[in-house]
Amino acid sequence: MAVLEGPTVRLRPLTPADYSGVFSWYNDPEIVAPFDRFALDTYEEFVRAVETAADDPASLAPRFAVERRAEGDVVGVVGSYRAHPVLEYLDVWYVLGDPRARGHGVGREAVSLLVAELFRTTPVERVGATCDVENVASYRLVEGLGFRWEGTLRSALFHHGRWHDVRVYGITRSEWTARTSKG
Ligand SMILES: CC(C)(COP(=O)(O)OP(=O)(O)OC[C@H]1O[C@@H](n2cnc3c(N)ncnc32)[C@H](O)[C@@H]1OP(=O)(O)O)[C@@H](O)C(=O)NCCC(=O)NCCS
Repeated sequence: MAVLEGPTVRLRPLTPADYSGVFSWYNDPEIVAPFDRFALDTYEEFVRAVETAADDPASLAPRFAVERRAEGDVVGVVGSYRAHPVLEYLDVWYVLGDPRARGHGVGREAVSLLVAELFRTTPVERVGATCDVENVASYRLVEGLGFRWEGTLRSALFHHGRWHDVRVYGITRSEWTARTSKG
């Protein structure tokens, strides 16, 4: 898998040295799931999921570590997965496990690198994101990359004891190309 360099962020495959840090975020609902469902993993399940993700387009395991180039530290992970059994698009997800790294554009830069890579390396014509309606940071992040709010799925996600509505976002290959070719 490629290493993707942005101005301040690098996406790179996870290595075993990353596993325990990323796993500790995974088992902390306040970090990974303030607006999402949450399930505990064992360390072995987590490692197996990461190491087999390349062969499984539907895998929810992280695909890349998000490393800050200046600091050299891993502050998050991003992933993509085939979200529907019939429809052929990929959804992206993103978590900055270190809350101190949030709010500085790291998430948006990381997701931008990921979306570019998905359009470069797969034949999909649409990349999507699904965000709890209350997860303002998540949907603002993709709006800033040109994703369109395509609609709302009502009562589609259960977490924190109740059903939540989710916003569906997407960007097509032609929209992405037009946007990124402007420089
Ligand atoms: C979602 C997340 C990755 C955003 O990363 P980030 O690096 O903090 O985001 P950025 O700094 O790139 O900002 C992206 C946009 O969100 C906005 N934003 C960031 N944090 C916000 C917050 N707490 N509340 C409201 N808006 C916020 C920014 O202002 C920016 O929008 P703008 O440019 O239109 O002003 C991060 O908050 C996170 O890890 N959250 C927990 C996990 C999660 O919910 N992931 C999404 C599920 S797919």
